[in-house]
Amino acid sequence: MEAGDVSEMDLSYGSGSGEAEGKGKSELRTLLERDPSRAETVIEFRDVHLAFSREREVLAGVDLTVRRGETKIILGGSGEGKSTILRLALGLIQPTRGSIRLFGEEITTLDEAQLKPIRHRVGMVFQGGALFDSLTVAENVGFCPMENHGMTLEQAEPLIRRRLKYVGLSDAYDLMPSELSGGMAKRAAVARAMICSPEVLLFDEPTTGIDPIGVRRLLRLINRLRDDFEVTSVVVTHILKDARFIGDSLLVLRAGHIVFDGTFDELMATKDPFLRDFIAEQEGI
Ligand SMILES: Nc1ncnc2c1ncn2[C@@H]1O[C@H](COP(=O)(O)OP(=O)(O)OP(=O)(O)O)[C@@H](O)[C@H]1O
Ligand SMILES: [Mg+2]
Repeated sequence: MEAGDVSEMDLSYGSGSGEAEGKGKSELRTLLERDPSRAETVIEFRDVHLAFSREREVLAGVDLTVRRGETKIILGGSGEGKSTILRLALGLIQPTRGSIRLFGEEITTLDEAQLKPIRHRVGMVFQGGALFDSLTVAENVGFCPMENHGMTLEQAEPLIRRRLKYVGLSDAYDLMPSELSGGMAKRAAVARAMICSPEVLLFDEPTTGIDPIGVRRLLRLINRLRDDFEVTSVVVTHILKDARFIGDSLLVLRAGHIVFDGTFDELMATKDPFLRDFIAEQEGI
């Protein structure tokens, strides 16, 4: 694609300025709350297995469905395979067997070139935030329009500034990542993931390593993305308290299987001994 083919507007969520905050609950949200099964499926795993070695399957038959407009939380202990699920959903790694559909399309049989346009509809906030240390915040946030749409930094600047404003980092344009606090770096990573207006955002442990105020701010940001732009989110975490603020529904991953799929309240009411222990180990619930 030639530089300039994509106008700033084409990369914006919705119509008009798009950035109006607090648009309130969308029709999609209301539909989801009344009857979740009517919303379109955007991510679907069926009987997904993955083994990195012959001794152990990390995922041993995972089924999951993420519908448009919902925020799905994936909970589980360290090493249970949460990040692996996100990498599979992006087609970065292939399952040993099973089906993975993204926007209705089976991605396990696609090559890199075929995957690219589908991947562009998904934004990822990697574990740890992972900004490029040698680039400014603006260059980090503008990565997608510059790399995928051939824009120059000057062309992308208005879009970068709007995204920085949205995440509460208006003054960070010229800063280096090392000048940001942990929470600010996470929000810059969100701005980078959302800049090309993806329909789906994947967050890997977005609240790890930041203070409680930063956590609250980030969780609110995830909620706003859903309410303002109908973004579908998958949020991986090992902190149940986070799930309470944002999740429409939760999955708990353990020993390669989804051992719980339901709402926060349903999880709280569970009598399953493993899940009761998992809840008991969490602080401040
Ligand atoms: N590329 C790889 N090669 C070999 N083993 C891997 C690879 N990636 C992940 N694993 C293994 O798969 C398992 C799941 O890893 P994963 O990173 O998905 O866990 P996680 O639930 O995200 O953990 P954490 O909460 O610590 O981030 C771990 O045992 C890990 O060692
Ligand atoms: Mg992980």
